[in-house]
Order: sequence, then C-alpha cells, then structure tokens
Amino acid sequence: MKIFVYHTPALVPAVGNPDCAIAIDVLRATTSIATALASGAEAIEVFADLEALEQASAQYPAELTLKAAERGGSKVSGYDLGNSPFEYSEEVVKGKRIFMTTTNGTRALQRVKDVPHVVAGALVNLQSVVNFLHDLDPAVVWIVCAGWEGNFALEDTVCAGAILAHLQKLRNLAFGNDEAIAALALYQQSHNQLEELLRYASHGQRLARLGATADLTYCAGLNSLYVLPKQSAPGVLTAG
Ligand code: MLT
Repeated sequence: MKIFVYHTPALVPAVGNPDCAIAIDVLRATTSIATALASGAEAIEVFADLEALEQASAQYPAELTLKAAERGGSKVSGYDLGNSPFEYSEEVVKGKRIFMTTTNGTRALQRVKDVPHVVAGALVNLQSVVNFLHDLDPAVVWIVCAGWEGNFALEDTVCAGAILAHLQKLRNLAFGNDEAIAALALYQQSHNQLEELLRYASHGQRLARLGATADLTYCAGLNSLYVLPKQSAPGVLTAG
C-alpha cells in the first residue's frame, strides 16, 4: 500500500486516480460527520456551496432532512445545524438525511468524490479508518487534508500521521510523498498531547475565540467512536 498525504484539496493532483481516498477535517467537519452517523443519521450529503445544497435538499421531504451549514466556524443563519459535533446528538439526527456544507471539510470530500473508495477520517474514528485500510488493502491511497482556506492545518496533518502510525503497526507501508513522512513525524512528536496541539493550531484558536473550547476536547478524543463514514454514492456518506 502506497500512501500520499496532501495538506489541502488544492494540492491534490489534477490527473491520476487512487484506489482509495481518506478526507480529513478534524476541526470539525469529519468529526461531526462521524458523530452524526454514530448517532444514527441515515446519511450525510456534502456540498461545496449553499446553492447546490438547497437544490439537492429540495428533492427530499423536509421532515426527513436537516440542513447544516458553517462558514468561518459559525453556523450560517437560517440553517438547522452548524458544525459542532455536539449538535449531532441522537435526539436530533437519528433517521435523518443531513445536507451539509462547511468552509473546507465538505470541499475536501467533494474533491475526491470520483475515487472508488472514499472515507471520512478524524481522530475520533481513527481505528475504524485504519482497520478499513488494512482490510481493503488498496494499492494507492490519498489522504486529503481539508486545511483552512487553502492553507496547511496542523490538526488534519497530525491525524494523517496518526493513520500512518497505527497502520504501520499492522503492515508495511510505502510513503508516496514527503508530506506523508512529515505527517508521521508530527504525530510521533505530539501523540501524547493531541488536545494541546488542537488548541495551539490556528483554527483551534479561532474556535476558542468563538467559544467552542469543548469542541476541541471532543475532536481530540482518539478512538472515542467506532464508525466509518463511507461514500455510498458521490458526495453521500453512510455508516460503513
Ligand atoms: C471546515 O470545514 O472548515 C470546518 O469544519 C470549520 C469548522 O470548524 O466548523
């Protein structure tokens, strides 16, 4: 298995297709997606923009759906949900199809939607992702970090490194690029202080300014969920 890490969706090569892609947005889209599916949501459909979300959600009965939108870390006014994992409780999301757009995370998922196997990864469901990769044994994997508005994000890259570190315990890996080696080194250096790293990261500081400090603790919770958000149709994630 050869694994490539990309720090942002824009760095993903325009040509060439891997067998499998893992999209990561630890703060907070893929953490919230994992939480929603663990809470019994029927599916999450992801969109890069509000217009596409509105068009697609209009095709479904309103009582079976929820619309989630976040920009700049805050909920978009008029939507049912923002992007805090605490909003995705069983009472709220069970049985619902969630139409979601976020600043960066849903765009990362959109970027890889044509890859044969697509999974959403976060620290909270790390072992599920590792087990999935070990069982599937794809020849080429792209780990696509959401980043923040085109820039590197510490929390996504450390999660990519965590996947590599834990997968390496199960099998031999080939590193496809230097970013993969750097991600592994970052995780090895900081695996005992993941929450501190998230607080130190620029988006962690942004969320703290918005009052979402409990989200940082939750998002740093390694393996707190055993759920695999897996693409079942382009842009649609269900519990795999
Ligand atoms: C994103 O997609 O950029 C994030 O998930 C933002 C957030 O923290 O809500």
